[in-house]
Amino acid sequence: MKIDRHAKTVDLDPRDPAFFNDPYPVYEEIRTVSPTFFWNEYGMWCFTGFADVSRLLRDKRFGRQILHVATREELGLAPPKPHLSDFDAVEAHSLLELEPPAHTRLRTLVNRAFVSRQVEKLRPEIAALTHATIDRFAADGEVELIKAFAEPIPVSVIARMLGVPQERCDDLLDWSHAMVRMYMFETDEAAEHAANQAALDFADCLTELIAERRRHPTDDLLSHMITSERGGDRLSDAELISTSVLLLNAGHEATVHQTGNAVKAILENGLDHQDLFKDDGSTAAAIEESLRYDAPLHMFTRYALEDVVLDGGIEITKGQEIGLTLGAANRDPRQFAEPASFVAGRPDQANVTFGAGIHFCIGAPLARLELQVSLPILFERLPGLRLADTPRYRDAYHFHGLERLDLAW
Ligand code: HEM
Repeated sequence: MKIDRHAKTVDLDPRDPAFFNDPYPVYEEIRTVSPTFFWNEYGMWCFTGFADVSRLLRDKRFGRQILHVATREELGLAPPKPHLSDFDAVEAHSLLELEPPAHTRLRTLVNRAFVSRQVEKLRPEIAALTHATIDRFAADGEVELIKAFAEPIPVSVIARMLGVPQERCDDLLDWSHAMVRMYMFETDEAAEHAANQAALDFADCLTELIAERRRHPTDDLLSHMITSERGGDRLSDAELISTSVLLLNAGHEATVHQTGNAVKAILENGLDHQDLFKDDGSTAAAIEESLRYDAPLHMFTRYALEDVVLDGGIEITKGQEIGLTLGAANRDPRQFAEPASFVAGRPDQANVTFGAGIHFCIGAPLARLELQVSLPILFERLPGLRLADTPRYRDAYHFHGLERLDLAW
């Protein structure tokens, strides 16, 4: 890494294994020079301060989308790639890629299913699923936790919620992985073709399912989304497909990574699980700290919707992107005492792991519940759980999750 103190620019390869395996010392080094810096590889200003990240996520002068206020020509953007047309069609109605008023309308129509009291009803089902998942490897004395435990639980939960048959879960994982590759630092044309094909297959699968639910509605989320209405407004088929794809993808990717990151944090810090998980309150506090301590999504971007001058005279022109490094903000010493220590129940608990503002994660209550239910069961069922190998993160900086987590007991 190279930091230019005067210009506040940083050369830092996000694909450097030393960085993506442990970005925190690097964040600290940058922060001591300048909490706001221009990341040359991304070509944008990035923010590591908790207060800045939290404020900018809510700042209406910035948005996840730009094409509602400017054309591609005005922004000098390349035209859409024809070989990504199916991927783009799914993205076009994605909640995560919309801004008000389109975003408000869609979010209102799906939000009901994800509020805490609705999600809480899933507690017994998640516990049963966790036990059944552990039953498959409990006698082995060792496991690679990501594949055997972290993946199947959130995938099954979100598939069941939506009403996607369990036998399609492997397909869901494959499609999701192919689509998520598009959000990484560098993509090649092969990855783009694979993402497009995955979007097409995913949409075909959902089109069939939507037709089936129209004929025979059930009690699942897809049926509810089909009939859900506000002031005579309903979701179109394209919106139903985009929303379902987003929920299925977002519904597991980050939770899978967070399961691994939390287990790793507990084991590496030698924490006593009986103490961490002694009741519902301490469990919730421990999970919240795990979300702050090693978040699974490290950076989100925003477009400037107008010309903006930020603190320190940083000028951002309309259409320019900024980077909000959630992972760094969660370790800001101006916000947290001893930010590098895992302190369950810390009095200064706060985090931006689920974002903030209008795009705040709709699945936060579900993700929290999955972690609060599944982790205590894991540690209780496998006494003596320990790391069997050094955990390594995936080469995908934004998605800060483990490639493997080899454990023994
Ligand atoms: C630990 C697990 C999770 C983490 C860390 C996480 C994190 C996030 C973050 C940071 C955002 C905001 C992105 C931005 O502002 O640009 C977001 C949005 C979103 N998340 Fe999650 N998420 C998790 C789990 C889930 C789950 C289980 C679901 C399933 C329903 C979900 C569905 C969504 C959706 C639909 C959005 C878009 C909301 C909108 O644009 O209005 N997430 N998530």
